[in-house]
Amino acid sequence: MSEKALAHLNEALQHLFTLTGYSDKDPEILASHRETTHQWTETIVQAFYDTLFTYEPTAKIFNEGERPTREQMLRDWYEGLTCGNIDQNWWRHQWFVGLVHVKRGVSNLFLIGMMSRIQQLFLDKCLETLPPDEAKELFGAFKRITDVVTGLIADGYFENYFIALERTVGFKTALIQRMLDMEVNKMLEEWRNTTAA
Ligand code: HEM
Repeated sequence: MSEKALAHLNEALQHLFTLTGYSDKDPEILASHRETTHQWTETIVQAFYDTLFTYEPTAKIFNEGERPTREQMLRDWYEGLTCGNIDQNWWRHQWFVGLVHVKRGVSNLFLIGMMSRIQQLFLDKCLETLPPDEAKELFGAFKRITDVVTGLIADGYFENYFIALERTVGFKTALIQRMLDMEVNKMLEEWRNTTAA
């Protein structure tokens, strides 16, 4: 990973921690409930892939026979997260998922929709299983961490897309940025003129 990309990632992480209200206490809260939350793994994993495999635009992303490998990946991701095994490398890996998603055509719309689905399932389980105060505390920690993950994957998708473009076309970011700014202004103007009509 280049120094520039690393600096960008650290800054993105800082923004997301501050704005979501994430703290190092959150992984500890998750860890303290891991025996309970690991019993929910299969419900979450099966609901995740049943949703993706029964919706044509997402089903077509997967190759024939790929489901077991993808399920195992989500199981590992969920169990790592709910064990509270969250360090700098783990956060960096989430950013890198954005690049993997670019390669496989997994848009951020799909990512955001499915993270919402996981959060709702997790909330239902918390409310069914725990007294209200504990459910609120556990869900709050899970929500903040998974929202930071969504932000990182989405940012990794956009940023790496841009870096790939820069590397392919050979332009410098500052030049692309100036050209984009001009085009964005034009597009905003067009949009305002159309909506005002
Ligand atoms: C909660 C949302 C999601 C999370 C947390 C997530 C997480 C991950 C992770 C950890 C990887 C492995 C990256 C690596 O190689 O190290 C990955 C890869 C992948 N994900 Fe996602 N993902 C999410 C949503 C989706 C959705 C909605 C789709 C499909 C519509 C999808 C399809 C894939 C595919 C096809 C791969 C690539 C596997 C490969 O070629 O190696 N993911 N994702």
